[in-house]
Amino acid sequence: MPVNIGDKPQADFNRPIELMMDCHRRIERFLMVLRKIGRAGKLDARLGSALRTALDYFKLAGPRHNEDEEASLFPALTACDNAAVAAAMLRMRRLAEEHATAEKLHRLIDELGEAWLKAGKISAEDRRKFQHAVETLIGIYTPHIAMEEHEIFPLAAQLLPPETLIGIGEQMRARRAANPGREGSRCSQRRRKSSS
Ligand SMILES: [Fe+2]
Ligand SMILES: [Fe+2]
Repeated sequence: MPVNIGDKPQADFNRPIELMMDCHRRIERFLMVLRKIGRAGKLDARLGSALRTALDYFKLAGPRHNEDEEASLFPALTACDNAAVAAAMLRMRRLAEEHATAEKLHRLIDELGEAWLKAGKISAEDRRKFQHAVETLIGIYTPHIAMEEHEIFPLAAQLLPPETLIGIGEQMRARRAANPGREGSRCSQRRRKSSS
């Protein structure tokens, strides 16, 4: 596999929390791509390709990352009999609600972005909606990711036994194997690399 100088090595499934943090970095990066495209308002070949990649990423990896947290990490943490977990329950509920809000915004961005790619142009009104949805998402994700990385993930790393973390990693691997993504997409290529 070619390695680019400066690339961070892919986290592996035995370290699920690191893997989730890598997902956060990709979410942040692709949100900045969407912001840049919305501000540009026109698609040349490079921005069109960047929009295609960002839409593919969020269509596949966004819901799967939420599932990693809601169906694997949060339940494992909730099962811990610990006062700190009891205090974090409300936060985990709020994080799950934010996932649902973010998914609605992703659907709108996807709809507008796909239409933009198909037509090669976007109306002023749709561009305004696109930009508003992207900025709202950034406003949701910034504190959301901070709460996960500063409160929930450290608690999980502290309390969950190694076998539970490995089990979470296996669930994450199975999710990706079940849905590797559109053939040729950057997501599916990355997945093949990290599972090889
Ligand atoms: Fe989350
Ligand atoms: Fe997250």
